[in-house]
Amino acid sequence: MLRIDVVTLFPALFEAPCATSIMGRAQRDGRVAYRVVDLRAYTHDRHQTVDDYAYGGGAGMVMKPEPFYEALDDLAPAGPVVLLSARGRPFGHADAVRWSLAEQLILLCGHYKDVDQRVAERDGVEEVSVGDFVLSGGEFAALCVMDAVVRLLPGALGDHESAATDSHYDGLLSPPSYTRPPEYRGRAVPAELLSGDHARIAAWRRARAEALTKARRPDLWARYEAEHGSDGTP
Ligand SMILES: C[S@@+](CC[C@H](N)C(=O)[O-])C[C@H]1O[C@@H](n2cnc3c(N)ncnc32)[C@H](O)[C@@H]1O
Repeated sequence: MLRIDVVTLFPALFEAPCATSIMGRAQRDGRVAYRVVDLRAYTHDRHQTVDDYAYGGGAGMVMKPEPFYEALDDLAPAGPVVLLSARGRPFGHADAVRWSLAEQLILLCGHYKDVDQRVAERDGVEEVSVGDFVLSGGEFAALCVMDAVVRLLPGALGDHESAATDSHYDGLLSPPSYTRPPEYRGRAVPAELLSGDHARIAAWRRARAEALTKARRPDLWARYEAEHGSDGTP
C-alpha cells in the first residue's frame, strides 16, 4: 500500500479531496493511506512561527527550513520526497507512474513568497512544478500530483475509468470522446464511431490522437516519433 504524507500549513485543504471520488475510494479500499502533517507542529515558539524576512530584503516572507527538516526527520522517508515549486522541473506522467510504485511519497507544500532554498537542497528532495504559472501555495499542486498518482494504483480505477486510454499514457493526447445522442444541435458524432467496426474505430482514434498531438503538442509528438518511429511502431 502506498502512503502519501503531505506537509502543509493548511491541512483542511486536503479533507474533502482525500475523502471524495477516486482518491477517497482508494483510501477506503486500502490501496493508499493519506497522512496530512501540520507544519506548525514542528515549530517551537509561542507564535508557531514558520516564516521570516528574506535575507537581502524584498517583499514577502520566506518559509523557514527547520520545520520542514524536522518534519522530514520524523517521517523518515522511504520513497520520493517532493517539494512543490514553481521553479521545479515539470511534473509529468512518468513521475506519476514512478511514484505510484513507491512505498511512500512525501509532498512538501510551500506558501508565502518562497521556501528557504535549503529545503530543496536537502538530500533526496525533488523540486517539481505542475505548470508554468504561480499558485499561492503548494497545496493544490500537491493535490494534482496525488490524484495523478492514486488513479494509477492497481485497482483504483474501475474498467469504465480506465487509465490506459487516457492522454499521456502512451505518449499521445487521447482522441476525443462522444456519447449519445448521435446528433446534437447540428453536431454529429463521427461516422466511424457509429460504424460498429472495431478496426475502423481503432484506426480513427489512432489517427485523431496523432493529429491532435502533432497540432497541439509538437514537443510530445517529437518525443513520440523519436521513440516509436513516424509510423508509431516501437
Ligand atoms: C507564491 S508561490 C512562490 C513562488 C516563488 N516566489 C517563485 O517565483 O517561484 C508559493 C508556493 O506555492 C507553490 N507553487 C506555486 N506555483 C507552483 C507551481 N506552478 N507548481 C508547484 N507548486 C507551486 C510552491 O510550493 C511555492 O513555494
